[in-house]
Order: sequence, then C-alpha cells, then structure tokens
Amino acid sequence: MTQEQLAEKAGLNVRTVRRLENGGLWQPRSRSVLLLAQALELDGAERELLAGEAGEPAVTTIVPRQLPAGLATLIGREDELAALTGDHHAGPAPVVAIDGMAGTGKTALAVHAGHRLAPGFPDGQLFVDLRGHAPGRRPVEPGEALARMARALGVPDADVPEHLDDRAALYRSVLAGRRVLIVLDDALDEHQIHPLLPGGPGCRVIVTGRRRLSGLGDARGLPLDVLSPAAAVALFTGVAGWDRVAGVPRDDLHEVVARCGWLPLAVRVAADRLRARPTWSVRHLLDRLAGDRLAELAAGRHDVAAALDASYDRLPSDLRRAYRLLGSHTGAEFGPSTAADLLGTGASQAERMLEHLLDAHLLREAAPGRYRFHDLVRDHASRTG
Ligand SMILES: Nc1ncnc2c1ncn2[C@@H]1O[C@H](COP(=O)(O)OP(=O)(O)O)[C@@H](O)[C@H]1O
Ligand SMILES: [Mg+2]
Repeated sequence: MTQEQLAEKAGLNVRTVRRLENGGLWQPRSRSVLLLAQALELDGAERELLAGEAGEPAVTTIVPRQLPAGLATLIGREDELAALTGDHHAGPAPVVAIDGMAGTGKTALAVHAGHRLAPGFPDGQLFVDLRGHAPGRRPVEPGEALARMARALGVPDADVPEHLDDRAALYRSVLAGRRVLIVLDDALDEHQIHPLLPGGPGCRVIVTGRRRLSGLGDARGLPLDVLSPAAAVALFTGVAGWDRVAGVPRDDLHEVVARCGWLPLAVRVAADRLRARPTWSVRHLLDRLAGDRLAELAAGRHDVAAALDASYDRLPSDLRRAYRLLGSHTGAEFGPSTAADLLGTGASQAERMLEHLLDAHLLREAAPGRYRFHDLVRDHASRTG
C-alpha cells in the first residue's frame, strides 16, 4: 500500500501519514493512530504495538458489553426473536427497528435478542437509551449518543470532534472492520437514529421505538403487539407467584389480563400489586380493575399512565386535541368521516391525523380505514386534558 492509499483508507491527511512513518510526528493524536490501525486491519496486540511505537502509553482495549441484564424468562415472542436473531432461512437484516405502543415489551425483546446475539459480536455490544419517550426527560441528541459510543469504543474524550458530521464519521471509522452489536433503545424518530447507523457490514443494529420508523435505508420494521391471552396469563402468574394464583379459576386470570389489555407493562404492574398486598385476592384485584384502571396500574417506576403521557407529550398540539376528542367521543371502531365530523376538518386532513396517531401507536387499525383504541389508551385519551 502506498502512503497515499493508506491515507485515503484511514481517512487521514497524506502528510500526517508521511510524518507518522518518518517519525516526524512525535506525538501523534491518538485518533490518527486509531484510524491508521484500522486501515491496516491490525488486531488488538498489533494495535498496542503501534500505539507504543507512536509514543502512546499502551492502552488496554476495553470491549464494551453494555447490554443491561435481560429477563430470566421472556414469555412468548418466538417469531420476533427468530426475526431478530436469524433463526430462519432469510437471515436477519443489518438494521431491525422494533415498533409498538408503550409497555408492549420492545426493550425486553431487544435486550433478550441482544444477549442471544452477543457471542457473534466479539468486538462488543453497545446499548444506548435514547430517551425518546422517557417521562420528564429530554431525548438524547444524536451528537451526545455518538460521543458516548465513541468513548465506549476506546476513543479518548479529547479526540471526539465537535461537529456532528465529524463525530458520525469517526464513529463509522472506528466501527469499520469490527463486529459490534448496537442496541438503540427508545428512539424518538429517524433524525435521531440516522447518524447512529454504522457504515460497514460487520455490525448489526436493533432499534426500538414507539413510532413506526420509515426512511432508514435497508432497515426492517418489526411491529410488536400486545401478548396473546395465554402468554399474558403466564406473565401474570410468573410475577404474582404460583402461591397467589393457586386455585384461582382460569377465567378469572383471563379476565385480569384482559382488563390489562394484554399489555405486558400493565399485566406486570397488576401482578406486582397483587404480590405486594398479601391480603388481596385475584377477585379483589379484578374489582379494583373494574374502576379507574389507570390509577390501579401504577407501581413505583412502572406506571402505564405515565408511559402514555410521554407519548402524548411528543404530539403536536392539533394531534393532542384530536387524540382527546377521539378518545372521548367515538365508538369502538370508527373511520375518517366520523373523525372529520368530530374534529371539524376535511376528510383527507382527518385521515392524515389518524395515520399519524396510528404511526405513533396511539391508535390501532382494525381494518383498512377503520381505527380503534387499545382499551388503556382510550382510558388515557378520554381523561387527558
Ligand atoms: N415477553 C415478555 N415476557 C416477560 N416480561 C415482559 C415481556 N415483555 C415485556 N415484559 C415486561 O413488561 C414491562 C414492559 O416492557 P418494556 O420492554 O419495558 O416495554 P417497552 O420497551 O415496549 O415500553 C417490563 O417490566 C418487562 O420486563
Ligand atoms: Mg422501552
């Protein structure tokens, strides 16, 4: 390789490469050394040797393993796990974006799949909570996420560039030739995600978010719905404990999880509450859930209403109004003309708003052009504002 070719491959100025080779740059910036090591496809030991030659203290490469602890048992979700981990003939896409309503189990699924995939990504696993819908917190800026991931991959603080594009370019350079799994949890939108996608083929990305993301190149969407009734009962039983459900009629258990809309977060909270109250029976819990469900479905940091508030807070004001009115005044299922009458808009504008709420997973599509609310979302919409 000529010095010119090496410079191009490393993304460095050719003068820097010449001076590095001639020893004229006696204190090269560690970023230059890193980029050079990558272009030369050096492995860990060779990289340390080069860093040593370049007058740098030998750095221990830390392989990031940032995935949080997964659930001991993930209930159901076999098809989704197969799509994420490639346990099927087509093989997984390099970027998979899981989308679904608040509390549907996106993070749990992504983390579980991440642990399963980890052995295939020896250069590490990155996990970033992008806080797209974290109650009371602002979403993470892409530049901040890039800086954190670059640091986790061994780039010293001082070498992280100021400008977003330069940060993204450095991040892609550092990832080139490495096999890293990247989990981007709770994304707000495409703009936040786009700069965080690696350029090369060796990495895999799992994105989770409440909005259906489009315009992310080859990314594949993986919509995640609520659990099946049987899986929801299994989740409830697992959290509440066998002793608390022993002898309870199966119909009662099905009724409890139905009142939770089979939403994992709600089922979990209901089971947590039962477990925390030794005097309560499943019957008593059922009675409570017949009243103000959203008030019942809050326990510590798990809170269905707060999770839905965070989705609501991200809506523009005309959609907030539409959400409240539709939640309060529509029947079980409705179409664009009912919505247009209610909102005082033309049919096409009403349809656009419905589609937006659908993309935000605040509405569900019963059939083409027919919409309905998840029960808990309807409760939330009708009592908000
Ligand atoms: N398949 C599942 N099996 C067991 N628990 C689950 C499952 N899916 C979700 N949960 C639990 O439900 C709650 C909400 O899940 P989470 O992944 O945080 O939802 P999301 O990220 O979609 O908002 C968590 O406490 C999680 O542990
Ligand atoms: Mg989540």
